Amino acid sequence: MIVTTKDLFQHAYGKYAIGAYNINNLEQTVGLFRGNLGKKAKNEDPVDHATSAPFIIQISRGARSYSDKRMLEALIRAADEVFSEAIFAVHLDHGTEEACYDCIDSGFYSSVMIDASHEEFAKNIEITKKVVDKAHAKNIVVEAELGQLGGVEEDVVGSVKLTDPAQAAEFIEKTGVDSLAVAIGTSHGAFKFTGKQGLHFDVLEKIQKAIPANFPLVMHGSSSVPHEWVERINNAGGKLKDASGVDEKQYLPAAKLGVTKINIDTDGRLVWCAIHREQFRDDPANFDLRPPGKIFIQAYAEYIIHKNTVLGSCGQLDGVREMLKTGKKTSGCCCCGH
Ligand code: G3H
Ligand code: 13P
Ligand code: ZN
Repeated sequence: MIVTTKDLFQHAYGKYAIGAYNINNLEQTVGLFRGNLGKKAKNEDPVDHATSAPFIIQISRGARSYSDKRMLEALIRAADEVFSEAIFAVHLDHGTEEACYDCIDSGFYSSVMIDASHEEFAKNIEITKKVVDKAHAKNIVVEAELGQLGGVEEDVVGSVKLTDPAQAAEFIEKTGVDSLAVAIGTSHGAFKFTGKQGLHFDVLEKIQKAIPANFPLVMHGSSSVPHEWVERINNAGGKLKDASGVDEKQYLPAAKLGVTKINIDTDGRLVWCAIHREQFRDDPANFDLRPPGKIFIQAYAEYIIHKNTVLGSCGQLDGVREMLKTGKKTSGCCCCGH
């Protein structure tokens, strides 16, 4: 069932974070749904309620044009039927104004991100407000971004500018936006830190204090770039030197300070890369796409289960379903949902 990110945030706020995962193709889609429903990809085990999680599917402009935007839409609609227990939002990642309007008009997306963070403050407000007005008229919710992450984002290479807490409060008030992506030390891609840096919890705390109570914040660039996966890639011929990501132990403390959506794309790409490199290294006679595809789906599903465990979203699906039915919030323990 497709819901808005706002619905999911209402349940999660202050307790756990919802994983927002980017997808581009069939294998990622199947792995993502299986992982979020706690199904081991090897077989069709019944749903394990300790692992089933609400989630957000993110589609970037690059993903929309990888084949044709209607292809991904059809894949997700099919997955929604096949995995009928799933509760998720469909979200445009890093949208331009044009892409936002296209998604708002499509009748498919439940949430869009307008990313005008590279503009001056006043211009960012002006563009975001226009998108919010059009989206809200169709009951679609909007995420915007204030501040600048480092690293590569779509086709923009950015320099870091941490979010100013006072500006965040003014931005939210003037735009009417539903959630805000903040720059607190993360960056996109597989090379986030050169040393022992981490999240700026001091800045996050100030932002939370400055903005309205229970307002959901978003953390982009949050892949953990696991050492294990980078090593597997390098052992199979890859060249990812000095890759590093966000410490997974920082997800829940960030969630307690209002970070309700945590964006993960790079980690999924690392899993994809490791599996395919290993498969072709270990079975050089193979030229069939399905053997590595099957292994990837399983590995990705298991990775999603792991990620949801550290985000605290695993086991929360029943609580979300109940809240949507009754309007009453019954979220459980952030570790197991019970
Ligand atoms: O923030 C950007 C996301 O990781 C999407 O990347 O534009 O290469 O699909 P992409
Ligand atoms: P990562 O590159 O850390 O996975 O971040 C993804 C992201 O922020 C998508 O919007
Ligand atoms: Zn991002």
